[in-house]
Amino acid sequence: MEEFKGKVAVVTGGGSGIGRALALALAREGARVIVADVDEAAMETVAREARGHGVEALAVRADVSDLGQVQALADQAWRAVGGVHVLCNNAGVAAWGGLERATHRDWQWVLGVNLWGVIHGVEAFVPRMIAGGQRGHIVNTASMAGLIASQGLGVYNTSKYAVVGLSETLAKDLKPYGIGVSVLCPMGVETRIRDSERSRPAALRNEPGAESPAVELIGRYLAPDTVAGMVLAAIRRGELYVITHDEGLEPLRRRFERMQRSILERGKA
Ligand SMILES: NC(=O)c1ccc[n+]([C@@H]2O[C@H](COP(=O)([O-])OP(=O)(O)OC[C@H]3O[C@@H](n4cnc5c(N)ncnc54)[C@H](O)[C@@H]3O)[C@@H](O)[C@H]2O)c1
Repeated sequence: MEEFKGKVAVVTGGGSGIGRALALALAREGARVIVADVDEAAMETVAREARGHGVEALAVRADVSDLGQVQALADQAWRAVGGVHVLCNNAGVAAWGGLERATHRDWQWVLGVNLWGVIHGVEAFVPRMIAGGQRGHIVNTASMAGLIASQGLGVYNTSKYAVVGLSETLAKDLKPYGIGVSVLCPMGVETRIRDSERSRPAALRNEPGAESPAVELIGRYLAPDTVAGMVLAAIRRGELYVITHDEGLEPLRRRFERMQRSILERGKA
């Protein structure tokens, strides 16, 4: 996809951080945007900012961990604007702490948003995008934590590795339909992710005292706008991976070399 003007884009988690930057970057390029989030005040503000770029913009409350709400989001998109060309499955949350201490609620919450949120996006939007017969693009926000494991990030790592795997397969599956797929894998980005607990539903909150401090990420923190610019460029070029940080190269190389050794040095003394 090369031209965003007049196209329709849906961005989940569009009320803050990377999602907000994606919605506004797409609006600047002339796309009509639908901003979905659980934070109603934030999503309304972003929709208003998008309208400031002279495009139609809608805010729709949708908790991505709930299939019915994501289906209702898709229904509303098709009703209001007649179709969707760019879907950004971006909503995500982080819980911190070693896997030996992770609570069942941590697993439910983080996988519910980060993994099931993407699955629900695929279930609700992809069949209709295919039926619409137009070219389109899906961007799934994973993380460098979907390619490299970090101590203290295990629940998050699990969700994001799954999003990378899903995206890699989705790219192959949707190629015959002219729908591209990109998977966004940033390291640090200046957003409110460290304050993810603000959106944890009451039913999935841990007992007081169970929280662990946020993990310090290595590398630079990029501005969300910089990341959004990289995503739009990747959509235009039809690139699967959007790896935003040069600092990612070394850990990725080390991971690959360990795998390579397992093959090349197998059985050697
Ligand atoms: N910031 C980073 O350093 C970083 C690095 C790698 C990947 N990511 C990923 O980027 C994505 C966006 O996060 P961000 O950094 O912009 O954080 P953020 O906290 O600034 O924004 C996340 C948005 O998602 C919304 N959200 C949370 N739960 C939701 C739900 N159930 N349904 C719908 N919306 C929900 C929040 O209300 C918020 O508006 C996430 O998937 C995150 O894992 C972030």
